[in-house]
Amino acid sequence: MTGIEVDGTGVDVPEGASLLAAVRMAGIELPALCSDDRLSPVGSCRTCLVRADGRIAAACVTPAASGVHVETATEDLRQLRRDAVELIASALPPRALAADSRSELAQACRSLGIRPGAARGTGGRGGDESHPYVHLDRDLCIACGRCVRMCAEVQGTFALTLTGRGSDTVVAPGTGGPWAESDCVACGGCVDTCPTGAITEPGPGQGLTSANRPTAGLTRTTCGYCGVGCSLEVTTRDGEVSAVLPARDGPVNQGHACVKGRFAHGYLASPERLTRPLLRQRDGRLEPVSWDEALGHVARGLREAVDTGGSDAVAAISSARATNEENYLVQKFMRVVIGTNNVDNCSRLCHSPSAAGLTASFGLSGGTDSFDDVERSDCLLVVGANPVEAHPVVGARLLQRVLHGARLVVADPRAVGLALHADVHLRPRPGTNVALFHGLAHVLLAEGLIDEEFLRERATGLPELTELLADYPPQQVADITGVPAADLVAAARLYGRAQRPAIVYGLGVTEHLHGTDGVRALSNLAILRGAVGTNNGYGVNPLRGQNNVQGASDMGALPDLLPGYGKVTDPDPRSRAEAVWGVPVPHRSGLRIPDMFAAARAGDLRALWVIGEDVCATDPDANRVAQALNACPLVVCNELFLSETARHADIVLPVASWLEKDGTFVNFDRRFQRVRPAVPPPGEARTDFDVVRSLAAVMGVDLGCATPADALAECGRVAPVFAGLSHNRLDREGAIPWPCPDLGRPGEATLYADRFATPDGRAHLAAAPYLPPGEQPDDDYPLVLVTGRRWAHYNSGSMTRRGGNLELDPVDFLDIHPDDAIRYDVRDGTQVSVESRHGQARLTARVSEQTASGQVFCSFHFPASGVNSLTSDHADTVTSCPEYKVTAVRVAAG
Ligand code: FES
Repeated sequence: MTGIEVDGTGVDVPEGASLLAAVRMAGIELPALCSDDRLSPVGSCRTCLVRADGRIAAACVTPAASGVHVETATEDLRQLRRDAVELIASALPPRALAADSRSELAQACRSLGIRPGAARGTGGRGGDESHPYVHLDRDLCIACGRCVRMCAEVQGTFALTLTGRGSDTVVAPGTGGPWAESDCVACGGCVDTCPTGAITEPGPGQGLTSANRPTAGLTRTTCGYCGVGCSLEVTTRDGEVSAVLPARDGPVNQGHACVKGRFAHGYLASPERLTRPLLRQRDGRLEPVSWDEALGHVARGLREAVDTGGSDAVAAISSARATNEENYLVQKFMRVVIGTNNVDNCSRLCHSPSAAGLTASFGLSGGTDSFDDVERSDCLLVVGANPVEAHPVVGARLLQRVLHGARLVVADPRAVGLALHADVHLRPRPGTNVALFHGLAHVLLAEGLIDEEFLRERATGLPELTELLADYPPQQVADITGVPAADLVAAARLYGRAQRPAIVYGLGVTEHLHGTDGVRALSNLAILRGAVGTNNGYGVNPLRGQNNVQGASDMGALPDLLPGYGKVTDPDPRSRAEAVWGVPVPHRSGLRIPDMFAAARAGDLRALWVIGEDVCATDPDANRVAQALNACPLVVCNELFLSETARHADIVLPVASWLEKDGTFVNFDRRFQRVRPAVPPPGEARTDFDVVRSLAAVMGVDLGCATPADALAECGRVAPVFAGLSHNRLDREGAIPWPCPDLGRPGEATLYADRFATPDGRAHLAAAPYLPPGEQPDDDYPLVLVTGRRWAHYNSGSMTRRGGNLELDPVDFLDIHPDDAIRYDVRDGTQVSVESRHGQARLTARVSEQTASGQVFCSFHFPASGVNSLTSDHADTVTSCPEYKVTAVRVAAG
């Protein structure tokens, strides 16, 4: 810390802080129109002038040197600042200082006594309202450059520039033309930093930023889209959300957001929201009924299923979108009320191989480090992930790290956003990850780029791995993967020679026939380097797909694991749960999601409760999923909209979304954060928490846990790893990572500093050989289809297709390489038919080199296209995670 004096008062400020930060720490506000503490200072507007040791200085660009005496309040300084602000305002039209303006400029003028009449500009530069979320009023632009720097320094998109000369300088998209056709990804950073209202969000949130948001009626919550866990602040008007702003002190997002969390809340008020329970009638129609009737019908159906087929004839798919507390109650309902372990969640379809692989390698089912540690990494290995689109705030932070000098290796078949900035981009054939990782490990060993002491003291399995790796020299791996041997060696050297290498990975590692082997082979690299559980690296960290997919598993919504990952077959955790719940817990593992569908098709599953998952749209081999639902005598579905799955249900229960409920989520780096309701659910919709408790009550069981806070507290008694968490504590402290066994101690952000959580306390190297994927291209199906996310949409698209995001990305594209487009007579922008051995889909071709020759790529955001009727039922041999990343297909025009 550095000691300085501000207007006679001593202040301690962090090393490297500016005088502006020091003045603010002293409780003094200055205008600072070109400054934002998320950005590098430029000192161009001269509105923040102070006197430092007798010299006039712009506070934003002057470092707070030790012992400096700062004056802010003398009359001459006030006048200088007033003149600077007035000069800027004078060039703007009167509306810049309108009485209702909330802009920083208008507020600065009010505080300095500058009257609205000071704005005397004539305007006439026009605007740009082409974009659904970002409108530009050029007349209000003061060319401070904050938006341009926000786009470059925080988001990393470089979509904006300042054009024109002198007083005509104004912000514009760098591509020229309308904003909607620019490279803007609508993170909202420019909107949030603009000090004048030149760039605003249209609609009720117009003019609101994280700097000027109202404090009354503001709800702080955690984003319900991807698993990054951005802290957001929600404003409301007339009972509806008016704006969602990034929290400046958000632990993960640090004042940033993406197009989904920031803007995609239009679905809340969609007329298509379900507001009343629906019950299928004899004629096949779904008709509204009362909650009493709906819950009574569900209760009778569940009892009948148990009476007919036993407890194991009932299953539930819990929701990675729901809160921890809701997931805790769902699994408790299944185990206590029904008496089965037939409960699973969609981590089965994404990161169950992470849970299995990381547990086997290190001991716990989560990423090994806090994401903050990535800021200290000098080499990033990003594998099978497209965070720029799927986890944009993480993508932006990774990119900034690279722009500040970290080396970057990207391993992904596609030219994903980060690959453009990579030192080495490895493009393995889909399904060959394990060979690729073994090839990298081979080079680490061959070139001595390993930590021998770490391996000796803290790891096991080196002899077996060394023997296996003899079969994976670079040229051999090149033959399997298609990655040139020289690139493989270059990548291994970058990772191997880094001081603090980091591994970040996504579903491109897990969603394979041998996904768990992939996670383990990737973990081998960190173990060989001693870059996990030490200060020498940022371990191995999965980017979780859904907002609470980590939490759903943490809470025990799994067929073989109780809350906190105790096995149902293990007497200790089972007896702990039995002591809290007061009933015996079934000993036998339950059904996984694919097994539930198989059991339904076989007539063994007689009731299925699907909570917040559109399994007919997102699960593989969708036609077979629909067959399963049709074969099951009772299907109950909790949903926001009449989804593909809801259309197959017997009873549809309308439920609240993440902006309408109370609880907690766990993000991708294991942080518990609070979720709070900003608005009530529409109509008669209820929270899943309320629905589960109410149904239990109708079935004659009091589940306890009167509130979400009670549920988390009870979970802590079942699972010691969460015993230190409570809503009160989270309200006070913000984010807390698990493990957190003690209310009086912080959670463990970085794991394994002393020992790994495996039974022997060591990291376990894995020596599993490469095995080919479930499907290979052949003469009939010559292309490999890979599926994933697009930047503007989210999963089945039920939320993002209802609002402005649909304008940003209105079409379901099939990306195809130009060579393949010629080969199969496919033209850009035309309709194509895609066929696999399992089904057919229709998409719009987009000819692009982002996808390698021999491969095609599409999302699954538009269920009507039928993409998941293409994907196969091949699944990870350990966890049953589907092999979404490798499907052999053929395409044809028309
Ligand atoms: Fe300091 Fe603009 S805020 S010069």
